[in-house]
Amino acid sequence: MLMNSVETIAVNNPARRALQRYYEMAVLTRLGGRVGGGRVLEIGCGSGYGTKLILDRMGAATVDAVDADPAMVARARRRLQRYNDAVWVECGEAHDLRAVLGAQDATYDAVFDFAALHHIENWRSVLAETARVLRPGGRFYFVEVTSAALARPSYRLLFDHPEQDRFGAGQFLAELHHHGLDPAERWKTAIGSDYLLGVAERLT
Ligand SMILES: C[S@@+](CC[C@H](N)C(=O)[O-])C[C@H]1O[C@@H](n2cnc3c(N)ncnc32)[C@H](O)[C@@H]1O
Repeated sequence: MLMNSVETIAVNNPARRALQRYYEMAVLTRLGGRVGGGRVLEIGCGSGYGTKLILDRMGAATVDAVDADPAMVARARRRLQRYNDAVWVECGEAHDLRAVLGAQDATYDAVFDFAALHHIENWRSVLAETARVLRPGGRFYFVEVTSAALARPSYRLLFDHPEQDRFGAGQFLAELHHHGLDPAERWKTAIGSDYLLGVAERLT
């Protein structure tokens, strides 16, 4: 489900960017380390600010970035122009990366999700696809918004999100295990249980 106009403004503003840059990246780096020289995929890249951080701060060699919203893809392509061949941004659905990117099994060293999965009805299929395209030992970095946050009046009033099969930390972590993605102790919640951040490793 694409962002409505209010959420588009809320996500693409300096406060959210500061949160992503100084808090989310710090937590993800502490939990999972950098991805120096790695081949990386980002699902639900939005306007590409996270993609830029993956390149600049995480040290990825290349990032393939996917988003279902053509307007976001256009913004991401503009933002990431200067990275030339290190970045490929494609418009499409994250549950079928073979169709969108031609992604083969075990292609990527890391996959990033900056708050995209709670927007996707079939998020479980996206996790299955994430596990498929990660190489054994590869890492899945995630920052997610839980059902507890989505139930708050502010979220309900201002934003549009899928109503069915929302997840809390328990459901999300169980689904990771189901697809052979092991977060071990590398995860945490924030702002009560509203946010979930972590890094899961694809088991061999
Ligand atoms: C809350 S935004 C996060 C955007 C970006 N990751 C960020 O942190 O700024 C969720 C993003 O998921 C994208 N999205 C929704 N459904 C999708 C799908 N099925 N496949 C890929 N992207 C999707 C939306 O277009 C939107 O850009």
